[in-house]
Amino acid sequence: MAGLSLFSSPISCSVFFFVFLGLAFSPAEAAIKRYQFDIQMANVSRLCHAKPIVTVNGRFPGPTIYAREGDRVQINVTNHVPYNFSIHWHGLKQYRNGWADGPAYITQCPIKTGSSYTYDFNVTGQRGTLWWHAHILWLRATVYGAIVIMPKPGTPFPFPQPTREFEIILGEWWNNDVESIEKQGNQMGLPPNMSDAHTINGKPGPLFPCSEKHTFAMEVEQGKTYLLRIINAALNDELFFGIAGHNMTVVEVDAVYTKPFTTQAILIAPGQTTNVLVKANQVRGRYFMSTRAFMDAPIPVDNKTATAILQYKGVPNTVLPLLPKLPASNDTAFALSYNKKLRSLNSAQYPANVPLNVDRNLFYTIGLGKNSCPTCVNGTRLLASLNNISFVMPKTALLQAHYFNLKGVFRTDFPDRPPTTFNFTGAPLTANLGTSAGTRVSKIAFNSTVELVLQDTNLLTVESHPFHLHGYNFFVVGTGIGNFDPEKDPAKYNLVDPMERNTVGVPTGGWTAIRFRADNPGVWFMHCHLELHTGWGLKTAFVVEDGPGQDQSVLPPPKDLPQC
Ligand code: C2O
Repeated sequence: MAGLSLFSSPISCSVFFFVFLGLAFSPAEAAIKRYQFDIQMANVSRLCHAKPIVTVNGRFPGPTIYAREGDRVQINVTNHVPYNFSIHWHGLKQYRNGWADGPAYITQCPIKTGSSYTYDFNVTGQRGTLWWHAHILWLRATVYGAIVIMPKPGTPFPFPQPTREFEIILGEWWNNDVESIEKQGNQMGLPPNMSDAHTINGKPGPLFPCSEKHTFAMEVEQGKTYLLRIINAALNDELFFGIAGHNMTVVEVDAVYTKPFTTQAILIAPGQTTNVLVKANQVRGRYFMSTRAFMDAPIPVDNKTATAILQYKGVPNTVLPLLPKLPASNDTAFALSYNKKLRSLNSAQYPANVPLNVDRNLFYTIGLGKNSCPTCVNGTRLLASLNNISFVMPKTALLQAHYFNLKGVFRTDFPDRPPTTFNFTGAPLTANLGTSAGTRVSKIAFNSTVELVLQDTNLLTVESHPFHLHGYNFFVVGTGIGNFDPEKDPAKYNLVDPMERNTVGVPTGGWTAIRFRADNPGVWFMHCHLELHTGWGLKTAFVVEDGPGQDQSVLPPPKDLPQC
């Protein structure tokens, strides 16, 4: 329990925060928000299953981190479980401060059993909903929570002020120990068992056995407007979410304001967040909120629906709730048109600073494949690659190797384009294109502008892949189905108000082009946020060099940084 005495408990900390929420304090009074996270086993029974799971402070989902733009946040993580551990603050930019980013073996060595590490970072130039999750093995299946960043004091939301806010965290639940499931899959060379349920705030809802008590309900009052902070914390499933009888107005994704638009359902990929406004303007009653997977490739998926309840004040629990209509689980057209509606607000106060000239053009193909594996059931092991390279996790954290100039940990020769060009999205290719394994990353000059086209391929199968870049937001300047055409497609880019975000879906059998300015020095992980694919090697990192200025280089590491 080292460090506990130094930190107030998370509960009193949130209370402290709420007390001050209503007061206007000047930016000079930006505060330090401190949390203690004890990683511990806890019994959280769901679906008639009562094995202990890995949690933060015994809670599932874990505690919400509340901060204001401009705050400094210190979270002391103490590991009491028999696994190595690390936590990632997904979407926090961590300027010059990769030490607090969290992905194990990328920016830090794991926190060993019995040890502690304090993640210490500033929240600068960001406000909205982000989230945190374990970033090692499959432990994020049960170790996740919300991050709520309020705008600076006196700065209102650029949309109608809601009466109240609710956090809605979507997840996936396994009726078994997740680590043994993952291990079993790896030994067989096959995808592990799919999840047994989806969850809303850790609860599958009354459509599941032993679940009546495990239903999240939110109470609303007629005529009032509510802000829902929706997070997809699922390991492998892109999800639809909707509320029976109620429209939602999307106002923010990944902690970036959007041009508001109204929709009956949202689509949200693992890693993404979406804020919506909901007006309680229907007949007073009980309405289901529900979530279900989107999958438009021939791949089996957990097709079970999780539900929660939106309940008008004063309506008795005996009134049966109505179910929302969600798009069909393979509704590609909905997915494409939904994503097309996402635009940055791009106001004077919140401009979209899209890089207009590109210093570095990158083109990465996404491939699934098989390698031989004599000990696996089919004699093969599934793997995944970027530009035919399946990433191998190092034994020392890349950021430490970069900062201390340790040789032999990684190579900086990750290719800017794939070794061979072929009809990427044509007929399914079963042949192995000669995938190689390696800890290879790309070196990026400080402050250069980068365009990265992520191209799905039909190696084994096409599939939609949500890609997440650490340390940055990027602009989604273009997307399309089929093969990217470098002659014609850039002319159709949106360089005015493209969505700025940290995780983007590359459509099934298509491509997505993103742009960012490499102004954050350090080592930044980039990977598919489907844990299954990350584990198979669908990941790499960018080493962004230090700039010339005094405040343009990686900060020195904290004293308690874990060692490998
Ligand atoms: Cu939310 Cu590297 O992940």
